[in-house]
Amino acid sequence: MSNEPNIAYFKGNFVPLAEANVSIMNHSFMYGTAVFEGIRGYWSEKQGEIFLFRLEEHFERMQDSMKIMHLQTPHTVAELCDITTELVRRNSPKTDMYIRPAAYKTAHRVGPSLDNNPSDICMFTVPFGDYFHGAEGLKVQISSWRRVEDNAIPARAKIVGAYANTALAKTDALNAGFDECIVLAENGHVSEGSAMNLFVVKKGILITSTTTENILEGVTRASILEIAKDLGLKTECRTVDRSELYIADELFFCGTGAQIAPIIEVDRRVIGDGKAGRISNLIKDTYISACRGEDPKYMKWLTPVYKAEPKDGLKGKVSSSATR
Ligand SMILES: Cc1ncc(COP(=O)(O)O)c(C=O)c1O
Repeated sequence: MSNEPNIAYFKGNFVPLAEANVSIMNHSFMYGTAVFEGIRGYWSEKQGEIFLFRLEEHFERMQDSMKIMHLQTPHTVAELCDITTELVRRNSPKTDMYIRPAAYKTAHRVGPSLDNNPSDICMFTVPFGDYFHGAEGLKVQISSWRRVEDNAIPARAKIVGAYANTALAKTDALNAGFDECIVLAENGHVSEGSAMNLFVVKKGILITSTTTENILEGVTRASILEIAKDLGLKTECRTVDRSELYIADELFFCGTGAQIAPIIEVDRRVIGDGKAGRISNLIKDTYISACRGEDPKYMKWLTPVYKAEPKDGLKGKVSSSATR
């Protein structure tokens, strides 16, 4: 790792990651007033290419999150995509990887207001493999924590401060000996996993919570709804009760990090026959081959990094603060 280039995007420049630091007085550090995205890059040995998955959709969501949080950027979605592609190219990974863009408040001041508080964009990349290690299927609990409400911290925005909710739910699940948790909305309906959306399979139908149950509107969730339609499977986006989970034929999480992760137990009740189900596996295989550029139907979702020419505007940017 130490010999690998590690370049970040910070204050409008490509700089060594070690130089991309904010002050302890930074507003977003103190109040959680940043928003972020998580994007995967899939390495294809066969094609000698890194494919970035649904880059535009991630930045469209980031711009929605920014609007909610009074964050600004001079960049369009297309420009953010170009910055990302260039950053990945400069880090030249030949492995699966993860990109973490964020928009944050830059003021150094005490007081939480979002007004008169400038914003900036930053981004880094890390090599990234499986999110869940070694588990064939996940054993999960229903969390005693509730998902943040839209009128408290909107879950449809990927707000840094809201991940304290995620951290509490995830940590308690791990400490109780589970792999993950499912979090309910304040009304008792199923919301999502700690950092992933959820699908229930019942009688061949894929069911997922509606967007008004305080979920993050996942890019993977949307992709699965499309894949399911292409496979001729019925889907429903609706309110889901807790007890529907216990009697599901199959259950799986989905998300950029988690990818497709089958669940085999909820609150010590076995789901189906206790193994990853047939439909979950079908969705997983289709999704992964789409991500790796092996399915022509879904190439529309991928941005190849090495084939694309570097953008003129970004070519000349300095790569170290020493030369700024
Ligand atoms: C709270 C939460 N829900 C759902 C997801 C899944 O969203 P996506 O598929 O866009 O990664 C994530 C991951 O980003 C998340 O953090």
